[in-house]
Amino acid sequence: MWFKTKKTSPKKGGAKAAVPKHIGIIMDGNGRWAQKRGLPRTAGHKKGADTLERIIEYCDKIGVKAVTAYAFSTENWSRPKEEVDAIMDMLYNYLLQADKKFGGRNIRFRVIGDLSRFDDKFFGAIRHAEEITAGNDGIIFNIALNYGGRREIAQAASRAARDAAEGRISPEKIDEDYLAKYMYLSDCPSVDLIIRPSGEYRLSNFLLWEAAYAELWFSDTLWPDFSERDLDRAVEDFAARNRRFGGI
Ligand code: FPP
Repeated sequence: MWFKTKKTSPKKGGAKAAVPKHIGIIMDGNGRWAQKRGLPRTAGHKKGADTLERIIEYCDKIGVKAVTAYAFSTENWSRPKEEVDAIMDMLYNYLLQADKKFGGRNIRFRVIGDLSRFDDKFFGAIRHAEEITAGNDGIIFNIALNYGGRREIAQAASRAARDAAEGRISPEKIDEDYLAKYMYLSDCPSVDLIIRPSGEYRLSNFLLWEAAYAELWFSDTLWPDFSERDLDRAVEDFAARNRRFGGI
């Protein structure tokens, strides 16, 4: 497993002492999980959605403040229509169940990504799920949908350019802090750990801005099999990392 630090016990005080505030998750391996069992790929996505529910619960329990899960990228539209439709149906049904799913739970649900692609019905379901959880102050659960890190940065640049063109800022004053305000996760704690299971070692256009100083953690487990113990291992490794943020 690349980039994994060697096995160490958590720092004094246990893993809790350095629990990441914000974890990004690339839910990879659903298709292979299903294929290994002779099931349609969509069965892997269903199981992957169940895994996500479990992992969010567990993150909340151990003190993680925010989780951002990559559910659909700007590139995923190129998959077979049948698979795209199945994932979108799952997501839409998930959103429709928001009252039941989030009622009574202290969770703040949000969707990030380029939402201009979705029709009014879908968009309305997103907004409803966000609105009913907006007053909560517990764990933030972001789903990244039609999300692309490059698109996010390009859109932020475009908004800054508009600000400049309309005289709200001079171009030379547009700096990292200015652009950061236009990133989707600007009001969340910084992403400090990105997890990618399934034996692939790349970011695939996920959270490129936030990845500048996030720790990366990879494992061979396919996402549907990802367990609370896997998350413990990721958090333990995170706690043992020496984060210097460019210093010494
Ligand atoms: C990547 O695995 C997974 C996706 C592109 C879709 C992930 C979506 C979900 C788990 C659905 C989430 C839904 C809800 C309701 C929260 P892959 O298909 O690329 O796997 P492979 O690499 O093994 O083919």
